Amino acid sequence: EISDEERLFDELIANEQRIEPRDWMPDAYRKTLVRQISQHAHSEIIGMQPEGNWITRAPSLKRKAILMAKVQDEAGHGLYLYSAAQTLGTTRDEMMDQLISGKAKYSSIFNYPTPTWADMGAIGWLVDGAAICNQVPLCRASYGPYGRAMVRVCKEESFHQRQGFEILLSLMRGTDEQREMAQDAVNRWYWPSLAMFGPPDDQSPNSAQSMKWKIKRFTNDELRQRFVGMLVPQAEILGVTLPDPELRFDDETGQYVIGEIDWDEFFEVLRGNGPCNAERLERRRTAHEDGAWVREAAAEYARKQSLKKKA
Ligand code: ACO
Repeated sequence: EISDEERLFDELIANEQRIEPRDWMPDAYRKTLVRQISQHAHSEIIGMQPEGNWITRAPSLKRKAILMAKVQDEAGHGLYLYSAAQTLGTTRDEMMDQLISGKAKYSSIFNYPTPTWADMGAIGWLVDGAAICNQVPLCRASYGPYGRAMVRVCKEESFHQRQGFEILLSLMRGTDEQREMAQDAVNRWYWPSLAMFGPPDDQSPNSAQSMKWKIKRFTNDELRQRFVGMLVPQAEILGVTLPDPELRFDDETGQYVIGEIDWDEFFEVLRGNGPCNAERLERRRTAHEDGAWVREAAAEYARKQSLKKKA
């Protein structure tokens, strides 16, 4: 016997209408949203680090200003997303504890190092490009606060992707050494950016239910395909080679065939054993501790303001 509340929920989903914080929703729907949105928020926050690494060393004042704005956008995305997760009844403190204790997941991609300036280009082009592919459909996610947050996030991601492409284009028009640097960065980021979309569909335990609930609109493999299709013509314009000798377009299926992704590496990164996992978490922990006085001061200020209002 299904309750009236559940019937209404099912109807809203079937009719492409949105679920809002005040609405009844199944516990499992709430749980899966808290899981995905908080992981997404953590990714944005941890994602500030690989690029933050280059702010002090950007090759010109203009590049530095652009990079700073970009990293700041990522902080903003993280904050929207934490707020969206909070509408589901979880607190910022709980989420922060989970991140800092190492219990929470965040995107695998941010556990790779950024040894050269060309990495700023490759991250913008590949990582933000993948993020756009994944997030544009999330603008239609059935949960209102998540979908609405994604609209603005995607606009900013498009700018991020363009700035990365432009960094690579400048390098590719430069000296032999600069071209090599750009190609090397693409070689290192290409495969991890494909893995970002998540495990293959037959190993993705959450996809089927998330698609039924219209949180996800496409499967991991579908989005990965779409991404490769987007990259191929852009790589040609850049003059970079995608490091996959097996990559080809299959006329029969109308799809790209790609080489084997190293899933062992992906799952190792998820287990905390990627090249930079420990460093990223340690940095976040220190930043959190160093920021304690700001949080205390803000709370004290808010307390005094509310006393003033009462008086
Ligand atoms: N990095 C880390 N963990 C991942 C990744 C990844 N790239 N891909 C999948 N996983 C995890 C899932 O979180 C899930 O773990 P959990 O069940 O313990 O939570 C597990 O692997 C199995 O994967 P799926 O069943 O496919 O999980 P899901 O349906 O949630 O799909 C996906 C994963 C596509 C990442 C989805 O959660 C999503 O679209 N999230 C929003 C986008 C996002 O988080 N982007 C972050 C990077 S973009 C950026 O910040 C610039």
